[in-house]
Amino acid sequence: MKTVLSGVQPSGKPHLGNYLGAMRQHIEMQKDYQCYLFIADLHALTTVKDPEQMRYQTYDLAVSYLALGLDPEKTVFFKQSDLPEHSELCWILGCMTKMPFLERAHAWKDAQNKGKKEVSVGLFNYPILQAADILLYQPDLVPVGADQKQHIEMTRDIATTFNNTFGEVFHIPEPHIKEDVGLIPGTDGQKMSKSYKNTIEVFAPESELKKQVMGIVTDSTPVEEAKDPDKCNIFALYKLLANKPETEKLAERYKKGGIGYGDSKKLLLEKIFEHFGEARTKYNELFPQKDLVYKILEEGAKKAKIMARKTLDEVKEKIGYKI
Ligand code: ADP
Ligand code: TRP
Repeated sequence: MKTVLSGVQPSGKPHLGNYLGAMRQHIEMQKDYQCYLFIADLHALTTVKDPEQMRYQTYDLAVSYLALGLDPEKTVFFKQSDLPEHSELCWILGCMTKMPFLERAHAWKDAQNKGKKEVSVGLFNYPILQAADILLYQPDLVPVGADQKQHIEMTRDIATTFNNTFGEVFHIPEPHIKEDVGLIPGTDGQKMSKSYKNTIEVFAPESELKKQVMGIVTDSTPVEEAKDPDKCNIFALYKLLANKPETEKLAERYKKGGIGYGDSKKLLLEKIFEHFGEARTKYNELFPQKDLVYKILEEGAKKAKIMARKTLDEVKEKIGYKI
């Protein structure tokens, strides 16, 4: 059975972009693969500096995954900071990585454009920690959203450098990106992202969710006029949740005219409730069960440790740390 690994930062409430771009694949893949999935709380420290927020967002993400159908019997589900092996391998890989290579990373370049003084060494090292996360578990596939492609390519390069220097340890993983999903647009048409405050949150209370959907920005084509579905943010989200006949039907209505953006927002909202109804109920049931949720993460960390230790021991052997 092939192995799959992915991580998600606990950097805010999960939104449709996270779900459609990454979380949905993580959950679907547990049927056919040995899956490892972790909450990337070490990475989140690059942005989250408030302990309450770190705790809450980590917990909330764990509950969200479980509510969406992650089965801890099938997927090894854990918290990154429970495994010091990630940080340890990160240091070792850092010694294999040249500065100009990291300077090419999009996240670093973006941060630098905003002002170099604001950028932490942790953010600069971010791709190395991600390479360590991945390589410890020797996965075949890394399912991520399209924006993570560069990080997986960097991981492959770092692994190859290590293998060429010290001998084969790391399996070279492939990114697994659902190209048909691509980048999910937010309520303002830019990429949906917590940092742009343009998200539609999967588990937001009903009234909040409604506000987010009603806030989707559209052009001002009048109700009766024909509209191009492919230029509409509402339609772009609808088609990712609806089935083919439903999508075609809405596209026809757009092209014919007579449907207002308010109507299609209502259709999208209905679709969201339909799609996530069961998960939203489960989320509310699970949220108060702290002991159960923490226990799942602890058990996951124990299972993850077996594989992480094995790889790290091989690495240390190759480097010459074992007498
Ligand atoms: P955010 O940009 O909101 O902070 P993250 O960087 O935490 O999101 O992303 C978590 C996962 O969700 C990643 O695998 C990422 O590729 C995916 N993802 C996030 N936003 C989108 C989007 N708008 N479209 C597709 N995938 C996304
Ligand atoms: N950088 C990823 C993101 O922002 C999160 C992440 C950390 C990750 N380590 C990983 C994803 C390892 C896949 C594999 O979404």
